[in-house]
Amino acid sequence: MKLLVVYSSKTGNTKKVAMAIGETLGVEPVAVTDAPSPDDYDWIVAGFWVDKGTADAAMKAYLSKITNKQVALFATLGAEPDSDHARQCLANAAKLLGTGCTLTGQFICQGKVSDEMVSMMKKMFPEGHPHAMTAERLARIEKAASHPDAEDLSAAQAYFADWRKEWIAG
Ligand SMILES: Cc1cc2nc3c(=O)[nH]c(=O)nc-3n(C[C@H](O)[C@H](O)[C@H](O)COP(=O)(O)O)c2cc1C
Repeated sequence: MKLLVVYSSKTGNTKKVAMAIGETLGVEPVAVTDAPSPDDYDWIVAGFWVDKGTADAAMKAYLSKITNKQVALFATLGAEPDSDHARQCLANAAKLLGTGCTLTGQFICQGKVSDEMVSMMKKMFPEGHPHAMTAERLARIEKAASHPDAEDLSAAQAYFADWRKEWIAG
């Protein structure tokens, strides 16, 4: 039985979650840029950062190469994890998997939106613009800034400990 934990992370949030999951599953997570062929594994746990409502480009490409495997997904995003947007992001990523894959689990938590991204959004969407940074949006970004926190990492570990029992240790 071979298990791969692979992740994509631009600013480190998803990497933190990957490392916590890897610790629980007893495997060293691999960055998607160095990832081996999925063909060499039986189980794949793949993590991405949400980029415009779906997996980031690097993980998109990797997910499409996975065929006929048991796959669990995890992700970090700026929005609330318990939201339609978060659920849609996971569903969009699952659709990118190659043929014959079984989705065995999914976990998502918040991750700090980089300062660079926030200032870019402020510039791109000034007051009056439909995507302008309303007080509500700023509050959401502010809330995401402390994530993933210790609670998120514990939740990811608990989720994948159960996942292993259900799908691998059976
Ligand atoms: C270009 C870009 C697009 C993003 N798109 C979304 C999005 O559609 N929804 C969302 O909730 N967060 C979005 N985010 C926030 C990131 O998903 C979030 O900060 C994530 O934790 C970053 O993970 P990383 O540190 O592993 O790169 C976006 C961030 C960037 C830079």
